[in-house]
Amino acid sequence: MKKVTDFHVVEVQHLSHDTFIIVLQGTEPVIAVLPGQFAEVEVPGSPEVFLRRPLSVHGCDPVAGTISFYVKVVGKGTARMSELLPGEKVSVIYPLGNHFTILEEGRVLLVGGGTGVAPMLMLANKLKKAGAEPVMIIGGRSAADIHISDAYHAVAEMHVTTEDGSLGVKGRVTDHPLLKEEFNFNRIYTCGPDPMMKALSAIAREKGVVCEASLENTMACGFGACLCCVVKTTDGHKCVCTEGPVFDTTYLENW
Ligand SMILES: Cc1cc2nc3c(=O)[nH]c(=O)nc-3n(C[C@H](O)[C@H](O)[C@H](O)COP(=O)(O)OP(=O)(O)OC[C@H]3O[C@@H](n4cnc5c(N)ncnc54)[C@H](O)[C@@H]3O)c2cc1C
Ligand code: FES
Repeated sequence: MKKVTDFHVVEVQHLSHDTFIIVLQGTEPVIAVLPGQFAEVEVPGSPEVFLRRPLSVHGCDPVAGTISFYVKVVGKGTARMSELLPGEKVSVIYPLGNHFTILEEGRVLLVGGGTGVAPMLMLANKLKKAGAEPVMIIGGRSAADIHISDAYHAVAEMHVTTEDGSLGVKGRVTDHPLLKEEFNFNRIYTCGPDPMMKALSAIAREKGVVCEASLENTMACGFGACLCCVVKTTDGHKCVCTEGPVFDTTYLENW
């Protein structure tokens, strides 16, 4: 059940000039979040940014009472978030949306591109605990876009692609041998730019496995009222904010 809660900023960890992880401490017990669920986060102290910003939950520790987000600065809201100081109050509505399916066995592929990396660590943790074998590919333009800590290596077999070849395999995630001749997975989970996810969906279809994609359609209300986030499915239009963000791509039209 979703709720609106005040959190206090614990820290903003800057990973690069435009990417950061913000850790928040709850002022009341923190609800467990499932991988793929998101939050609508207030941007405090920025009167021109009046709408909350949707962010995938990167980490959630109900015992410590913390929640974290992996964010890229793209505009005024995310820029202001990157400047928040320890102790500042942030209102968060969470947990929102559905979540990735947690398989209990088999080798599964997680692919994150850009800020689509955000839910992947939590997903890999859950899959590993459930009994599956997570393998992850993180893609970026260059090495500067790749931010993987030891925590990733602890839960998944890690692979990297960069378009300029400065780290890992040169090219896009779909150029990785794991997605070509070495393909050996039960399922693909992905989050990132639509063209990347569509290409992965096509590979999954060809290999006969399910692809679950977390969509990041632009959102306003975040609770199914404004219809600005709709996606066309084989079962009509669906709101990404309430019926997603995670979809089995078989049911997405033109995917
Ligand atoms: C379910 C969901 C989960 C998300 N999770 C994350 C996350 O974990 N980390 C993260 O950094 N971002 C995530 N996003 C995207 C994030 O919400 C936007 O980047 C943010 O709202 C931009 O706010 P802003 O005020 O900084 O930029 P704005 O001034 O609102 O926009 C600046 C630019 O970014 C573009 N933009 C805005 N929203 C999106 C979007 N959803 N997708 C692509 N481009 C957009 C605008 O078109 C504009 O060009 C998520 C979005 C959704 C819907
Ligand atoms: S954001 Fe308003 S309906 Fe989804």
